[in-house]
Amino acid sequence: MHVETHAGAHVRSRSAHHRLPAARGWARVAATLALTGMLLASFVASPAANAKTPQPKPMLDASAVAVPDRYAADAAQQIFAAGGNAVDAAVAVSFTLAVTYPDAGNIGGGGFMTVYMDGKPYFLDYREKAPQSATRDMYLDDKGNVIKGMSLVGHRAVAVPGTVEGMWEAQKRFGKLKWKQVLAPAIKYATDGFTVQPWLQQRREFASKNFGGKTNFDAYFSNLKAGAMFRQPELAQTLTRIASDGGREFYEGQTADLIAQQMYGHGLITKTDLLQYKAVWREPVTASWNGYQIVTAPPPSSGGVGLIQLLKMKADLKPQFDGVALNSEPYIHLIAQMEDRVFADRQQYLGDPDSYRVPVDKLIDDAYLAKRAEGITPDEVPGAAPVKPGLGDSMPEKAQTTHFSVVDKWGNAVSNTYTLNGPFGSGVVVDGGGFVLNDEMDDFEAKAGVQNQFGVTSGDVNTIAPGRRPLSSMTPTILLKDGKVSLVIGTPGGSRIFTSIFQVMTNLYDFNMPPADALSAMRFHHQLLPQKTIYWEPYRPIDGELADQLKARGYTLEGQLFNGDVQMIRIDGTAPQPAADPRGVGVGRVIQ
Ligand code: GLY
Repeated sequence: MHVETHAGAHVRSRSAHHRLPAARGWARVAATLALTGMLLASFVASPAANAKTPQPKPMLDASAVAVPDRYAADAAQQIFAAGGNAVDAAVAVSFTLAVTYPDAGNIGGGGFMTVYMDGKPYFLDYREKAPQSATRDMYLDDKGNVIKGMSLVGHRAVAVPGTVEGMWEAQKRFGKLKWKQVLAPAIKYATDGFTVQPWLQQRREFASKNFGGKTNFDAYFSNLKAGAMFRQPELAQTLTRIASDGGREFYEGQTADLIAQQMYGHGLITKTDLLQYKAVWREPVTASWNGYQIVTAPPPSSGGVGLIQLLKMKADLKPQFDGVALNSEPYIHLIAQMEDRVFADRQQYLGDPDSYRVPVDKLIDDAYLAKRAEGITPDEVPGAAPVKPGLGDSMPEKAQTTHFSVVDKWGNAVSNTYTLNGPFGSGVVVDGGGFVLNDEMDDFEAKAGVQNQFGVTSGDVNTIAPGRRPLSSMTPTILLKDGKVSLVIGTPGGSRIFTSIFQVMTNLYDFNMPPADALSAMRFHHQLLPQKTIYWEPYRPIDGELADQLKARGYTLEGQLFNGDVQMIRIDGTAPQPAADPRGVGVGRVIQ
């Protein structure tokens, strides 16, 4: 049995694209039930026999997921029915999205997984890495200018993928089911197909235009049409090989051969790059805030540090925020000043921790942030004084994304964000493998001071070097209260990721909104560059009097297509409350 909420069910969107009529919602539920029954019958033989260890006593009323599409929710439901835990479900969701949500779900990209298992926090970095032959200036022409689009489209944009290794490591360490079982739903969707929704056709058309025929994208995806069944036989074979031979097959077996062949003469990735790829278990960044323990992403993400900086500075600025209404002009102005400081630090100090000693502790230190917040006032003129990084000019020492949240009834949680970077990544499909490769190389700084696709610069700490991981903003986060999971949250959105999570957390905890309202509230974004610019989203535009007030203050307003697709689960007592962002097509489902 399950209880389900769909994105868009709680709030009326201003965009027709986001509306979900009730009848369609029920049709979805019915289809979900039918499909779930079918799939369960097809592969779950003996749930108890599959579990490696005896089940501990449940701590929650049920398990739950908040995931970007309904097929992923169905996959998680099968896994829980088979006795799997949160990590088993997360791995099944991840592989399923690689089939049914191919613009961001992936096996050709990378990401981060924050885990809370048996009362302990963990963080798995399966971010992509630059190939060994990558060079600092590989995207510059002979005049030293960045070659437009080269880090975004085509073979040279691709970094060594980490997703399969990440899922393999996570499931090996924490999963209860057999590896084959967690891949079964994805293999079934790839083999039998799934029904394409209009939004996916739109995303495919957008990406195809963007790739402009420079890759083999259309040969694989032109049949992705609304209402049609989309089958991916080559991807089914790839997933079947990975299921039979284990996660290293992708790096050492036939799949590795296919990737190397695809790259040969066009891109940089070799079989040695694949052989050498390893996911890394790192210490998550943790901080106390508002009576909670935050567990979030460390470098090479900038997101965990950025999120904690925003939350702590806002708490320091309590007197300034007193009586200031949510999303009013003075509210946006105060937050924008905080964001200037966060992005100035990001640009100067954040990079791959295996190349630089990133000063995480200093950057989230209470005294540092209290001082950093000091200059923020309601009367500050935007852009009047340049915002500099707060730890001085010294360099640290050398050292289209999607998110899902899962809790199991034993109180374990997974917060996972992974990415191809742009929608459908580089547009390069591995011939014979049937999967898209990322364009994560664009997350490096191609040239000093040149902004990437998210408009951020990132300084010398994020230049291209062999084997280095590009700086990310992905922020899979778990909040604990008294050692128990209280919130699991994350979103796609590049540099908008941690500012979006910050706003939703503020809505939940400072403004006491119910989850659905916290998600549907207006969101805005500001970062250091371009100066004095507030980004707004079509879903809840900044217009009318609010727009006039911000312009009068000196801000420029910029619309952007998208401001996140937050998938979160709040736990109230013992009841998980999943909620999917109404900006997307996600599903929150409670699973008994
Ligand atoms: N590719 C987006 C990020 O990692 O932040």
